[in-house]
Amino acid sequence: MPETTSLFNKIAEHYDSLNTFFSFGMDKMWRRRLAEQIRGSHLILDIATGTGEVAIETIKKLDDSNVIGIDPSAQMLRFARKKCESPQYRKRISLVQGFAEYLPFGSDKFDAITIAFGIRNTLNPLESLNEMKRVLKPGGKVAILEFTIPKNKIFAPLYLFYFKKFLPFVGSLFGNKKEYEYLSDSTSEFPQREKFIEIMKDAGLKHQESIELMIGTVIIYTGIKNQ
Ligand SMILES: C[S@@+](CC[C@H](N)C(=O)[O-])C[C@H]1O[C@@H](n2cnc3c(N)ncnc32)[C@H](O)[C@@H]1O
Repeated sequence: MPETTSLFNKIAEHYDSLNTFFSFGMDKMWRRRLAEQIRGSHLILDIATGTGEVAIETIKKLDDSNVIGIDPSAQMLRFARKKCESPQYRKRISLVQGFAEYLPFGSDKFDAITIAFGIRNTLNPLESLNEMKRVLKPGGKVAILEFTIPKNKIFAPLYLFYFKKFLPFVGSLFGNKKEYEYLSDSTSEFPQREKFIEIMKDAGLKHQESIELMIGTVIIYTGIKNQ
């Protein structure tokens, strides 16, 4: 089992509450913004679905949509399944265990794909994007939500301090210091903005838009699979 999968198995229990705490309660709003990018889509794949938050926000936001959530972590999926048991979600959300790099679906199947705070955790982002392109219908849209380091020269060091010191400190209170160190390192080391857009292009996805939120600490990249 790849290391990140066991990492997410370990932090699953406190994942939702710590996310809300670290993001000052903004995380749900970011996921709603993500769902808005794929308005009009019917069959949606949410990759790295984790505890199912994007799947749930998507169903709430987009009438007439169905979401398949996929994630390799059994523990994250266990919490997603609990939330999705309620009747308003059960019929419209299904959950599958698996990796972004080997999507267990046929080609040209989905109207849209979402992935929130997950692309940097995949084993190989280019392979994951290649797979996304394969399973998207021609003309289908991908919307990727990720953290970024802000460009602002005053704000960037504060943000890095928050991410590199404060997050692991709070994580340590829950016995997960190493895991939160990994999460902050994976953010600062991951290709940002133009570099990430290049990887999207290498995967054959046409970059459409980059939407920066929260003073450039969070970004949504959208891309299209050509007709
Ligand atoms: C930071 S969580 C994000 C969860 C959720 N999307 C959210 O918005 O809260 C990252 C997720 O990526 C998943 N993940 C790790 N490696 C993966 C891979 N190779 N393919 C797909 N998902 C992966 C983890 O299991 C974890 O649930």
